[in-house]
Amino acid sequence: MTKRDTILVVGATGNVGRHVVSQLRVPVRALARDPAAARLPAGVEVVRGDLTDPDSFAAALTGVGAVFLLWPSYSVEGAAPVVDAIAAHASRVVYLSARQAAEGPDSVWGGVEQLIERSGLGWTFLRCGGFATNTVGWAEQIRAGGVVRAPFADAARSLIHEADIAAVAVAALTGDGHDKQAYELTGPEVVTQAEQARLIGEAIGRPVRFAEQPVAEARAEMLAGGADPVFVDQALSYWARLVHEPESVTNTVAEVTGRPARTFRQWARDHAADFRTSPDH
Ligand SMILES: NC(=O)c1ccc[n+]([C@@H]2O[C@H](COP(=O)([O-])OP(=O)(O)OC[C@H]3O[C@@H](n4cnc5c(N)ncnc54)[C@H](OP(=O)(O)O)[C@@H]3O)[C@@H](O)[C@H]2O)c1
Repeated sequence: MTKRDTILVVGATGNVGRHVVSQLRVPVRALARDPAAARLPAGVEVVRGDLTDPDSFAAALTGVGAVFLLWPSYSVEGAAPVVDAIAAHASRVVYLSARQAAEGPDSVWGGVEQLIERSGLGWTFLRCGGFATNTVGWAEQIRAGGVVRAPFADAARSLIHEADIAAVAVAALTGDGHDKQAYELTGPEVVTQAEQARLIGEAIGRPVRFAEQPVAEARAEMLAGGADPVFVDQALSYWARLVHEPESVTNTVAEVTGRPARTFRQWARDHAADFRTSPDH
């Protein structure tokens, strides 16, 4: 990779990828399945491409030296040709992974990491904990009545701001010393779900409170919404554990970027609009 090579950002229209695109100060190409709907800053090259269509993806890789990659599926199936295509064009990849990958190749994130390690590419893995932006899932309830009804008010999480994940990605894409590094990324502190709701209220200037929902009711709602039963049970037992065993906090964002990771309070301020207005307005 030379300084003039283009960086391809996969997932450029997503939570993290938008920040990667805006933070990069080198030629950047954004991948989108529908460029007309991408809403990326003027001047960014946006190319049509679909990870499930190897030809369209290979075309997007011309002249690319490094790739920011996410794998938008709960199955590793179909990832091998994508990694092979990257290895045929570029020299390094920064992969948006998850903490679960540390447990081995059984999860989708561990499986994709294994493909990348075997590809001959230079790599950096961003093993992220939960994203703060997952709480946007509460927006409808907050707009409707200022009450988040969900289980495990005291589950304590070290949620991360997507802009911090992007900052680490940009460092790894453009700087030295990040090859073969698996970075475990979290927010700077542990915040309970009840406190997350309160901080969102603080950001929007209206009280928001957390109301404990019975686990059986939450489970039924998730299943009715079409969630996979195995995922639902895993998620519920994980959140239950966090009431007594808070998630750990790493200092990796600060170590890599030289700036402390953003707090959940900061995240809520940055996203106040998501909780004030409906997506249709
Ligand atoms: N949420 C969490 O707590 C968490 C924690 C750890 C890791 N992760 C991982 O983070 C990733 C999600 O990141 P995010 O939240 O930034 O993304 P996101 O907001 O969910 O957006 C998904 C992105 O993937 C792109 N995409 C989807 N299917 C595609 C396809 N077939 N071909 C090309 N592009 C496709 C979409 O682009 P277009 O629709 O424009 O084509 C969009 O940019 C997932 O892999 C997830 O496993 C999430």
